[in-house]
Parts: sequence; structure tokens; C-alpha cells
Amino acid sequence: MSTVLEGRGVLAIHGGRPVRPTLLPYGRQSIEESDIEAVVEVLRSDWLTTGPKVAEFEEAVAAWVGAKYAVSFSSGTAALHAAAFTADLQPGDEAVTTPLTFAATANCVLYQGATPVFADVQPDTLNIDPEQIASRITSQTKAILPVDYAGHPADLEPILQLADRHELVVIEDACHALGAGYRKRPVGGLAHMTVFSFHPVKHLTTGEGGMVTTDNPRFAETLRRFRNHGLSSDGRQRQAKRNWHYEMVLLGFNYRLSDIACALGIRQLSRLEANLARRRQIAARYQMEFHDVAGIRTPVVRDDVDPAWHLYPIRLELNQLSSSRNEVFQAMRAENIGVNVHYIPVHLHPYYRERFGYKGGEYPVAEAAYECLVSLPMFHGMSDDDVEDVVEVVQKILGAFAKNSRLS
Ligand SMILES: Cc1ncc(COP(=O)(O)O)c(C=O)c1O
Repeated sequence: MSTVLEGRGVLAIHGGRPVRPTLLPYGRQSIEESDIEAVVEVLRSDWLTTGPKVAEFEEAVAAWVGAKYAVSFSSGTAALHAAAFTADLQPGDEAVTTPLTFAATANCVLYQGATPVFADVQPDTLNIDPEQIASRITSQTKAILPVDYAGHPADLEPILQLADRHELVVIEDACHALGAGYRKRPVGGLAHMTVFSFHPVKHLTTGEGGMVTTDNPRFAETLRRFRNHGLSSDGRQRQAKRNWHYEMVLLGFNYRLSDIACALGIRQLSRLEANLARRRQIAARYQMEFHDVAGIRTPVVRDDVDPAWHLYPIRLELNQLSSSRNEVFQAMRAENIGVNVHYIPVHLHPYYRERFGYKGGEYPVAEAAYECLVSLPMFHGMSDDDVEDVVEVVQKILGAFAKNSRLS
């Protein structure tokens, strides 16, 4: 059977010509000639790792987010692990986090032998609900890990108040939210520690990479040691002091970010403002085009935040559609729009089910959201034509699958 829409042709999934000849991914990096030159310059220098570019990149990120310290890591996951260690999570401890995130947020608690405890999300932003957190706090709780889902900051003020009251450490997983604002302040200087990722789909990239920002000098020192085998000094510091002596003071890892990566990061950071502006422009266009499309719920933006738009997740209102989420997803992919789903709730992964006995049904808001989420392409390198293609495909497919469509 073919589905024909007047003037718009047959859906690709029904044998029609796709709107695009090639796949538009949901996210991708932008690399310019100056990025390549910066990397090549480091390759010709004396320091490939833990040289001057690391400190320069860290200082630049700290200044950008308004934090006193920034410590770089080989990935966002390594940065989360270091933050969990620095919060002193240990076996027997608990940390409360959201189920609607990438598994790394909860896994870092497990790396420390502690237990992640999930708290359901708020129905509008899909960020962790402070009231649900409050109901999960026990005498074992040591930390809270909110996630700024899709780049929309979590509701940090009540979370920080809860943490104050119970003497907990807040580790904000802002892997989606570099450049976001909460109550007119940049994300990165608000929580006790804030974690960023520089994976290629993010707002800036170092290939792989991550960062923790903090205002706490003790935390900063522990983070630095943890990423370098637990040593009390690094090679460059020893060379500067003409000293060979070092001491291992804690059990750390090699989680260092190289000078090669940091040189790329410095160049990329210089375009962060422009990247954010472009993402906000694309989001505004999507919001305008999709707010009255039947069968779609566009992302909610609260008045007191400025999201960084890492993702643009729509929610399908399946009761208004004649098709399932998977059919909509496959139809969009067939048009060469690289949609994705963020996220399978962490507690529903087999590892978590088997280890903790989750069966589904424990976190109804997150689970219901997951069933209807679809992330549309969102990255700063999208051209106007790319954005038009997404708009056309969404209107075409939702029009064809709307329950009141005579073609559905
Ligand atoms: C919310 C969240 N936390 C943590 C990570 C892990 O970051 P990385 O891929 O840099 O290890 C990601 C990765 O995309 C993420 O989306």
C-alpha cells in the first residue's frame, strides 16, 4: 500500500523517494581548518600530553562557566567517575539520580561500589523531580546526580537546598548542557561539581573528552590526582621543579586528556557562543513549526532557564496517531532523517534489571515518556536546507499518520 499526500509524494517507507538522498545524523561535530592547524601545531611541539594546552583549556572552560576550577578528563564518563570518587561514594552509600539518562550517569556510582537510587522525572522537562529525590533520601544517601536532559537545566535550586539540609554532594551531569543558563547563571558554577562531555555530538568536541568544574579547591585537587594514577604531581610540574620525586596518595587512573585534544578544545571553545546561537535558532524554528502539529508534543522550556539544546526530543501523542513510535521512527529514517531515542530508562537495561530486580513500572513518568520520545536532528553545523528537510519530513509523516488523516 502506498500513502500519498497531495503534492508531497509517497512516503519513502512505502516506496516513495526520500526527502533527502543522504542521511542527516541527529548530531555531529563541526571541524574547521583552524582546528586542524591547532592540532598539527601541538603534534610538532614537545608536549603531546599534559603540557601547556591542558591548563589553557581548563582555565578557558572555568572562565566560560564562571567556576574557580576546571579539571579535564579523557571522557565525560571518566569525569563522572572522578566526581563520584571525589564525593567519597563508597560501598554502602547511595546516590540519587534520574532514570532518563545515558547509563554512564548511574554507572559512575557503581564504579565506586555504591548504589544508584532512581527518582522519577517531572512530566514537563523530563528532569529529575526534587520531590521524588526527597522521598528517596535515606541515612545512606551521600550524593545527588541531576542530569540536564537535552540541555535544559534541572531544577537546581530545590536540589541544592535538599543537599544542604542533608549534607549531600550535588554532581550535576551537564554533559548535555555546556552553555546553558539557570536563573541567569551559567551551568558549571552552580552545583558542587558539574560534569561536561566533549564527545563529537556535543556543543564542542575534543574527539573524546570531559571536564569537571567546581569552586571547591579540595575537590579540584582530588579530581586532578584521581585522573593521574593518584599521584601528587604531574610530569610537567616535576620537570619545572627539576625534581623526580612523586608520591601516589590515592588509587587513581590514567584519565588524562592529551594536549592534542585540548588544543582542539581551545579552538572549539572560541566558537561555543556561535554554536549555541545556531542551536537556539534551530530550536526556535522547530518550536514554531511543530507546536500545532497534531500528534506531537514539543520540548517544554521553563521561564527561568536558557537551554543549550543538545537534543531536540519530541514526544509523540500516540493516542492521536494511527501508528506506533517505531513506525514513525522507521518512516523518518526512510526519509533519511537520522532520528534517535534518548533514552531507554537506565533501570530497564538488562544489567540493572538483573542486578537490582527492576521489572518496569517503578518510574512511571520516565517510562511513559520513553515510549513516545523521538530526538530530531539538532547540531550547530545543520544548514538551513537540513532544517527545512526535517520540518518537511515531520509534517509529511505526522500528517500521514494522524488519526483524522483520510490517508492514515
Ligand atoms: C547524560 C550523559 N552523561 C554522560 C555521558 C558520557 O559522556 P562521554 O561519552 O563523554 O563519556 C553522556 C554521553 O553522551 C551523556 O549523554
